[in-house]
Amino acid sequence: MISLKFSTLCVLTLLCFSRVSSASNTFFVNCGSPENATVNNRTFVSDNNLGREINLSSGGVSVTTTDSNSLPPGTESTLFQTARVFTGESTYRFTIDQHGWFLIRLYLLPFASSSRDLTSARFSVSSQNFTLFRHYKPSNTSVVKEYTLKSPPPLSLHFRPETGSFAFVNALEVFKLPENLLPEEAGVISTQSSKKSLKLSPHAMETVFRINMGNLSVSRDQDKLWRQWDADSTYMGRARFGFPVTNLKAVNFSAGNITDEIAPVQVYGTATRLNSDNDPTNNANLTWTFKVEPGFDYFLRFHFCNIIVDPLGIEREISFNIYVNSES
Ligand SMILES: *[C@@H]1O[C@H](CO)[C@@H](O)[C@H](O)[C@H]1NC(C)=O
Ligand SMILES: *[C@@H]1O[C@H](CO)[C@@H](O)[C@H](O)[C@H]1NC(C)=O
Ligand SMILES: *[C@@H]1O[C@H](CO)[C@@H](O)[C@H](O)[C@H]1NC(C)=O
Ligand SMILES: *[C@@H]1O[C@H](CO)[C@@H](O)[C@H](O)[C@H]1NC(C)=O
Ligand SMILES: *[C@@H]1O[C@H](CO)[C@@H](O)[C@H](O)[C@H]1NC(C)=O
Ligand SMILES: *[C@@H]1O[C@H](CO)[C@@H](O)[C@H](O)[C@H]1NC(C)=O
Ligand SMILES: *[C@@H]1O[C@H](CO)[C@@H](O)[C@H](O)[C@H]1NC(C)=O
Ligand SMILES: *[C@@H]1O[C@H](CO)[C@@H](O)[C@H](O)[C@H]1NC(C)=O
Ligand SMILES: *[C@@H]1O[C@H](CO)[C@@H](O)[C@H](O)[C@H]1NC(C)=O
Repeated sequence: MISLKFSTLCVLTLLCFSRVSSASNTFFVNCGSPENATVNNRTFVSDNNLGREINLSSGGVSVTTTDSNSLPPGTESTLFQTARVFTGESTYRFTIDQHGWFLIRLYLLPFASSSRDLTSARFSVSSQNFTLFRHYKPSNTSVVKEYTLKSPPPLSLHFRPETGSFAFVNALEVFKLPENLLPEEAGVISTQSSKKSLKLSPHAMETVFRINMGNLSVSRDQDKLWRQWDADSTYMGRARFGFPVTNLKAVNFSAGNITDEIAPVQVYGTATRLNSDNDPTNNANLTWTFKVEPGFDYFLRFHFCNIIVDPLGIEREISFNIYVNSES
């Protein structure tokens, strides 16, 4: 399940461009580094000498960590070693040739360097007319912030430091999402709204939780779109009635419209099962609890694949209800 936060600050005007260009619509940037870095089979290019496809409005300053012990573990640590610092408003502009849904990831680790301590940065970042975050005050850990928005060309990322402070970023990803990854609209679950559905395209969304049931986390290199999925058990409290099920072989992507771009086999092939075998009429339920910020709408996406087979190898018929807060 994914839960996304809608940022409802501004509505994007939709424009159609049919201009042909050589743009790849895919950008991975290793900010502040003189070197390209290969991470999870992708080349994050140095932003020291950007080419025609990416522009940076002001140079900024490259900084390098002086404490490599503070880097997070894993292959991504390379991306957190350097950062580009902006003391004034600065914009990365990406040449894209198609209107569509784009995914943006910002890698942020406020390390200490010889010239600056990045923990004292205070800044806002916007893209097109959406504020992605504002008054950002980094904590001392690495974060990867992820946004999804619909953009006409060119796509821009605007960094705005607060007065007397500065902005920074360690690495960037911007790429076009496959068509049909997101629905046109989503049903509304709310006691306060009379609306039955909401169009997604005027909204920018921030990924707040992406959870894989079955207590299995999925790393970026296992996902076609480099999404990180966290194991669900952390969100279940004491899960008295649930237990994890794994059956990767039962997943068949060629049978329908669902592809492994929508979610990888480790997502569809694992589940948390409600144990109601002994008493099918019992009232037990599985509950996942997510702390969210009030004032936003949340987009919930559920992925289902019936991977439960009984001991004789027969697929089980399953039926259940889902409640979001108390709404069915
Ligand atoms: C962003 O907002 C400005 C001012 O409100 C407007 O002129 C511009 O067309 C908007 N741009 C997009 C891409 O919606
Ligand atoms: C980084 O990769 C880009 C694109 O593949 C290439 O043009 C550039 O020469 C590389 N830079 C370095 C320093 O290797
Ligand atoms: C890396 O990318 C290449 C070219 O796109 C592909 O052939 C290869 O299978 C990929 N390797 C992994 C581990 O994803
Ligand atoms: C970047 O700059 C080049 C050269 O000035 C220009 O041709 C290109 O259109 C610019 N790209 C964007 C996305 O602004
Ligand atoms: C981050 O800060 C917290 C609280 O100030 C501290 O306990 C923790 O050790 C720090 N972590 C790192 C990686 O510096
Ligand atoms: C989930 O996995 C973690 C780590 O592998 C394990 O410690 C925990 O007991 C598991 N929880 C459940 C409910 O299976
Ligand atoms: C997957 O589904 C396709 C289409 O329904 C079918 O032809 C194929 O045999 C299935 N593969 C497996 C391994 O079940
Ligand atoms: C597959 O997707 C297309 C286009 O979104 C839709 O018209 C069709 O009904 C879908 N088919 C199935 C089996 O869901
Ligand atoms: C789910 O179970 C919990 C704990 O037993 C209970 O408080 C809650 O009301 C149940 N939710 C539903 C929708 O039945």
